[in-house]
Amino acid sequence: MSRFKVLIVGASGGVGAAAVQLAKHFGAEVTGVCSTGNLDLVRSIGADKVIDYTKEDFAKSGETYDIILDTTATVPLARCESALKPGGRLVAVQGSFAQALGLERPSKASGKKVIAGSDSIWVFAHKDGRLY
Ligand SMILES: NC(=O)c1ccc[n+]([C@@H]2O[C@H](COP(=O)([O-])OP(=O)(O)OC[C@H]3O[C@@H](n4cnc5c(N)ncnc54)[C@H](OP(=O)(O)O)[C@@H]3O)[C@@H](O)[C@H]2O)c1
Repeated sequence: MSRFKVLIVGASGGVGAAAVQLAKHFGAEVTGVCSTGNLDLVRSIGADKVIDYTKEDFAKSGETYDIILDTTATVPLARCESALKPGGRLVAVQGSFAQALGLERPSKASGKKVIAGSDSIWVFAHKDGRLY
């Protein structure tokens, strides 16, 4: 089975840096999004790839991910839906009001979901290939 691809927006921050290391521990391929000055830091804690948000918009790169973890409240579903694989999850740690109310909904057929709120940071990928 191919490795889960996880994108972490805010990878240089307290929550994001922990998430980078946990995702690596669980065997994911991790891409970290941060500013120019923190690219080396995010690489040093294990990210396979880094994206400088001051120079590139991850949502327009054509890459797709199983999980996008947003610690910055800068990633509404409308911005990143095309960067989620079918069945993928947007995990919004801060969660906008709309996300908290469950108003951001992808089409059911896509299998994608939005999980919002600080308590929802733990998303597990089971070895059977499903996301929880
Ligand atoms: N820390 C905790 O224990 C904790 C616990 C529960 C919930 N939370 C919540 O989780 C959220 C994040 O907390 P935190 O402690 O990780 O904050 P933090 O340490 O201040 O980190 C935020 C990170 O966001 C990055 N950032 C800012 N704008 C960005 C953008 N447009 N794209 C990508 N990255 C961007 C910054 O990276 P650069 O410096 O590289 O720009 C910064 O490192 C907050 O809402 C907080 O309330 C935190």
